[in-house]
Amino acid sequence: MTQSVPIGQPSPEPGEVEPAITDDSRLAAMLGQTGPPVFTREEVEQIDRLIPFIAYDDGQLSIDGVSGEQLWDGRRSLLLYVPSRAVDNYRSIRDAFAQHFSVAVNCALKACYVGSVLAALRDAGAGAEIASELEWRIARSLGFAPDRTIVSGMSRQADHLQTLLPNEALLIAVDSFEEVQHIEWHARRTGARPKLMVRVNPLPPDSFFSERSKLGVGADEAYELLESVARSSHLELHGLHAHQLVRCTNPERFGELARRMGELRDELAGRAGVRVGTLDLGGGFEARYLMERAGWTIADFALAARDGLAGQDDLRVLLEPGRYVFGDAAVVLSRILGTKVKEGQHWQIAEVGSNLLPPTSDRAYPALPLRIADGQAWKRTHIADPTPTPARLYLDAMLPADAAGEGIALLGTGAYTAVRASLWNAGLPDIGFVTDGGVEIVFDREAQDAAFRALYGIDLEPVGEDVAERAQLGRQRARH
Ligand SMILES: Cc1ncc(COP(=O)(O)O)c(C=O)c1O
Repeated sequence: MTQSVPIGQPSPEPGEVEPAITDDSRLAAMLGQTGPPVFTREEVEQIDRLIPFIAYDDGQLSIDGVSGEQLWDGRRSLLLYVPSRAVDNYRSIRDAFAQHFSVAVNCALKACYVGSVLAALRDAGAGAEIASELEWRIARSLGFAPDRTIVSGMSRQADHLQTLLPNEALLIAVDSFEEVQHIEWHARRTGARPKLMVRVNPLPPDSFFSERSKLGVGADEAYELLESVARSSHLELHGLHAHQLVRCTNPERFGELARRMGELRDELAGRAGVRVGTLDLGGGFEARYLMERAGWTIADFALAARDGLAGQDDLRVLLEPGRYVFGDAAVVLSRILGTKVKEGQHWQIAEVGSNLLPPTSDRAYPALPLRIADGQAWKRTHIADPTPTPARLYLDAMLPADAAGEGIALLGTGAYTAVRASLWNAGLPDIGFVTDGGVEIVFDREAQDAAFRALYGIDLEPVGEDVAERAQLGRQRARH
């Protein structure tokens, strides 16, 4: 496996601090910096090399072939999903692993609930990974078939189990004795024989999956739990499940996870006489654009798994990617509310806030200008949100000096954003998706105000345009 020439460097593991990398960012280096290296001006100008659905056509940003002007009128910020990119990401992972394995890819719904995106994935043949009763209802409403659905999660309640168990095609992951006992009790009552996967942590603990993580079973308990499921006449031990990586850009680490899973499979066969047919290797891959920017493709991960699982026969591999599929399948188009200079550093304050875009690193959401032109001056600026928190969206962005006037685009905004959004501070932008050469909006200010009313019992005062529109309507009515 050879790494192609990286545009950037692999991103650090969570919590790891990466040093400043640009000469002209001496001042910026005084700020803490985590996340991948900054996008250079060349990378911004040639963004289509990394993310083919985004390009500058005649200097104007276009997304999925739709020009900036058609996309966005600039009045309210917009979180824009691109279902075709999510589908392309799904296909890339399925095709890469299908070279070496019998494989099924179940997209982790927890990363994105937008119906049009999920429906496009379902139509393309993707399965779903769900982690709660709410997500079960989402999967059912969208028609993901039970035999294409993996149920992870913990401490499921009796009524949820009663709904799940009659669907014998489901694969249910378990990681505690109590859960197994509950499932067995319901299985005995209903006569169903659910298929279980036992969730293990095959890799040594790290900063994310530490010894104190509640997830998975400890090494000592793993065999006991596996053997108790294997012994039960009401349960079918179907596979081993692992999800232990986070934003992984390192195929070797994934290969190691796969190798350990294969060893566990062998050890289990020796001890309990059961050779499970399925290994679920989880998700945990970095968003596709950042993985490829770091010089790897998902095919390198598939090769690493092939090597790690060499000699394993009659095996079915499952994958549950979230961030890889959804991460770069949305773009935020945000107004810039204002600028600020503090101790020599330039800041642009974007309308879209950390209530939508969690500040997972100092460089979580790379910024692009909406327009580029020859002879423009570019400058380094930090992008932050207007909330009363130290949250930053992207440090050290390279942007044309006059970009703020038109607004900016932020990348990497598709996974774990809208699902965790809250109505706080600046509120939420419109949310929509690209369709048939245009944009369909699914959430707008009216929907936001209705949600606010439902949550907090307050009818919000109309603002700006609403007031003008109502006044205009009032005048028209008066004339009739
Ligand atoms: C069990 C399980 N599978 C899959 C995922 C998806 O992870 P990622 O978005 O990192 O691919 C998660 C995320 O938390 C998870 O808990």
